[in-house]
Amino acid sequence: MNEVGIVSFGHSNYGAFGKTVQEIIGPVIEQCLGGVDNGLDPKDVDQVIVSAVDNQFSNQHQTGALALRFLKNPEAEAFRVEAACASGSVAANIAYKSIKFGIARNVLVVGFETMTRLSTRESTSVLIRGGSPEENMHGITQPAAYAMMSQLYSDRYGATEDDYALVSVKNHENAMRNPWAMFHKKLTVDDVKKSKVVASPIRLMHCSPIADGAAAILLSGEPRKYTDTPVYVKGIGMAHDVLGVFEKDDPTSIKATKKAASKAYRMAGIDASKVDIAEVHDAFTPVELMIYEALGFAERGQGFKLLREGTVMHSGSLPVNVSGGLKAKGHPVGATGVGMMVEQFRQLRGEIGERQVPDVEIALVENHGGTGATSIVTILSR
Ligand code: COA
Repeated sequence: MNEVGIVSFGHSNYGAFGKTVQEIIGPVIEQCLGGVDNGLDPKDVDQVIVSAVDNQFSNQHQTGALALRFLKNPEAEAFRVEAACASGSVAANIAYKSIKFGIARNVLVVGFETMTRLSTRESTSVLIRGGSPEENMHGITQPAAYAMMSQLYSDRYGATEDDYALVSVKNHENAMRNPWAMFHKKLTVDDVKKSKVVASPIRLMHCSPIADGAAAILLSGEPRKYTDTPVYVKGIGMAHDVLGVFEKDDPTSIKATKKAASKAYRMAGIDASKVDIAEVHDAFTPVELMIYEALGFAERGQGFKLLREGTVMHSGSLPVNVSGGLKAKGHPVGATGVGMMVEQFRQLRGEIGERQVPDVEIALVENHGGTGATSIVTILSR
């Protein structure tokens, strides 16, 4: 069977814009279709998969059909998928399978969210639904759920407030090189430690922001027809865990990511040591340490060492969240997974300007929903 490759992308700025769905997805779809190196007939796109988490954010149903307005091929099939913050990677996973199993030749994946239409209070009430029904009933918000996990992780493994702050400092520093990022503001460890408490030990400067944004990728079963420099999907693994923190075997571990990574590594025929660069789901920055461990970058409870030793910095041997991550690039939830793929596509093509990491051969994307009830790990290569 043919290899599946990404051949083009579209990406908006992330921030607070107050735009409608069509205003936010239209330009990224047009950028993605118009950016195909060797040109593309819209009739050759058989499927459009839209990733968006909640209709309360968008105020719009049938966003698949709405996306067709910009594709200009009414014969394509179009639909939306949802798996909380993992929605973007779920869309890419379905697109990959549609092509691999001959259902579609080319698939356009579009992720978006228009979150700032709602107040923080309203957004929080929407986002809480990414957790378990029992935790929702008791008002355990996403920051509160991650706070419980982080507290236990610190108690068990000795990660300090400084370790958690360092993730935020790194990701804000990285976002300085990303024109699409929501925040262009350097932080110190002290800035993070002095920011307001949201749900102890999570402070404002550990949190990903409420944001608007959109991203798109075009996947093809004939990537070389469309560009001389495609990026191939070498491995993709999806896995699940329970929704609630209270029902996890081990709330300090992102078990679904561990399972998804093992599937993706097996499919790609590699192990963690071969990964050159990773974009991971730092919705609340302490979890980045747990993700290093789930991906096999560090031993259990040792994730903080990668930060202390500089391994995951932009100049380190395994840069993580060079885009600024969810923390500083922003987290318009339905767009996030697709935006992460765009980042790695451009890193692998060597076209990402001052945030380029040299000699990237293998790039990884880890994107999970809620506290890790759905996780997808994707491995991309030139
Ligand atoms: N990081 C850094 N700065 C942030 C920020 C963040 N996450 N969120 C808001 N700010 C800044 C704003 O830019 C604003 O700065 P200004 O005063 O200089 O203009 C200031 O903080 C206040 O902004 P505001 O929008 O009033 O913040 P808030 O208190 O209403 O919201 C959070 C802050 C953390 C509660 C909100 O961003 C949040 O809920 N984040 C998590 C979203 C989430 O759960 N996503 C899903 C993950 S699974």
